[in-house]
Amino acid sequence: MILGIETSCDETAAAVLFSPRGDRTPKLLSNVIYSQAKIHRKTGGVVPEIAARAHIEQIIPTIAEALRSARVSLAEIDGIAVTAGPGLLTSLMVGVDTAKTLAMVLHKPIVAVNHMEAHAYSTLIEIPPKKTKLLFPALALTVSGGHTELLLISGWLKHKKIGQTLDDAAGECFDKVAKLLSLPYPGGPALARLAERGRATIAFPRPMISSGNFNFSFSGLKTAVLYYLRSEGSKIKNKRFRARVAASVQEAIVDVLVAKTIAAALKHRVKNILLGGGVAANHLLRQKLKAESYKLKSNFLAAQPEYCTDNAAMIAYAGWLHMQRGDYTPIKKVRANADWEL
Ligand code: KG4
Ligand code: ZN
Repeated sequence: MILGIETSCDETAAAVLFSPRGDRTPKLLSNVIYSQAKIHRKTGGVVPEIAARAHIEQIIPTIAEALRSARVSLAEIDGIAVTAGPGLLTSLMVGVDTAKTLAMVLHKPIVAVNHMEAHAYSTLIEIPPKKTKLLFPALALTVSGGHTELLLISGWLKHKKIGQTLDDAAGECFDKVAKLLSLPYPGGPALARLAERGRATIAFPRPMISSGNFNFSFSGLKTAVLYYLRSEGSKIKNKRFRARVAASVQEAIVDVLVAKTIAAALKHRVKNILLGGGVAANHLLRQKLKAESYKLKSNFLAAQPEYCTDNAAMIAYAGWLHMQRGDYTPIKKVRANADWEL
């Protein structure tokens, strides 16, 4: 019975995962998320100090709720998995200190989980054992607010980063363009909703799409949108125009993500393409990557929508993968690490 804890950014989350003996598929008993979105809407983005304070207020009620809805007592927990990084340092510290305190008081083992590793494997939560036989090699595209990464996975927890963004993450690009259009926080989902009402008729750049490597760059795209909006003046108030801009930016981001992922999948002849992270909730990205994966005869697995944006289910699951291999973290070494690279 594993308790997962996640506080890396602006979501306070706890989950309970149960692994029956002899069965490879663990079962999620609860998955509780307290979102701070309302709080950060006032400032149009996350202010770290405010996020940390909200985590401090919410972490105990969130864990209590995760245990209550799983109908499990603290005494029944066998291990604790906590996000140690990457993320906002002061946010991470709240989850890490709470998890360490629990591990010490309960005399239970603890695993420090890398948030991006958890996003990559979140596609496999509750996957039936039958499907895991032909899983590897797999390629994971993990797209979140702070990271855009391509991981080549040769076996359980055996992965190598083969590409990443050189500047802004895909989610950051969604968020920044949403801000240019004065959409409310969080910008990504708001921009995606607006995009549904328009056609992608504006030819924004597809940065690095034919760079020959698997790295990404999105800051130039954001700047291109900024200049375009300036040049079009008062049209920004027009509903149809705004929807056209949103659809065109979304398509540019998705095109680059799909092209790079497919090129990497071809090169490494992967059997499965996995998609995780907050931006994986985007319908167009899911649709296009699925269609292109099938053309390659590669299987496609996207994280279920509730496991795309930040959650503790994926932390408990990644923790379980480590614990199964006897890979625990000595409690003294469990530390918040804002820049923890995979
Ligand atoms: O994984 P996540 O919840 O947090 C981080 O680890 O950063 O990802 C959050 C990011 C934000 O940039 C948010 O705008 C974006 O995911 N996002 C979306 C959608 N839902 C969330 N971007 C595009 N379309 C969506 N439907
Ligand atoms: Zn995340």
